[in-house]
Amino acid sequence: MSERPYVIDEMISAKAIAARIEELSNAITEEFRDTNKLIVVGLLRGSFVFIADLVRELDLPVEVDFLEASSYGNAMESSREVRILKDLRGQIEGRDVLVVEDIVDTGHTLKHVVGLLESRNPGRLRTIALLDKPSRRETDVAADWIGFSIPDEFVVGYGIDYAQRNRNLPYIGKVRFPEA
Ligand code: IMP
Repeated sequence: MSERPYVIDEMISAKAIAARIEELSNAITEEFRDTNKLIVVGLLRGSFVFIADLVRELDLPVEVDFLEASSYGNAMESSREVRILKDLRGQIEGRDVLVVEDIVDTGHTLKHVVGLLESRNPGRLRTIALLDKPSRRETDVAADWIGFSIPDEFVVGYGIDYAQRNRNLPYIGKVRFPEA
């Protein structure tokens, strides 16, 4: 954890997030209307608040599973090399799957996870990310649904951390280091 003091400026309010989740869940419910079961896969840890709010808006039979991939560690830069730290508990062969990511940044994490899950022959495999930083992309991956497209800022809150802190903020804020 950096000892450098920082402040957090609100970027997306809790109210705006809730309104967007309602829109997204309507679109997802429509897409999977005929499913007999949708497996919602949350990528730990950053998506845990988002997935909790999202599944409660889905009007579908839903199962929840989690997968953890390594990403930033405690730094502000992505490592590019993605490792699976915790795999799914359940089988997904032939099942409809929705992968829930907090942020698509370089895209390495989502690309790796989608490749892994595709290799298990699911039914429909779709992806959703609360936030997208398109200017940071290093891969050709794109989520099927995006909550908000944001500029290249380091953000925290609503499940997202800086060195494990600030996940409990109800809104998305950007980290700013005031001049010394
Ligand atoms: P990617 O592999 O570069 O797309 O990184 C995706 C992961 O990096 C996300 O799931 C987050 O865990 C983390 N990440 C990317 N941008 C931020 C940020 O602004 N704040 C905190 N974590 C971030």
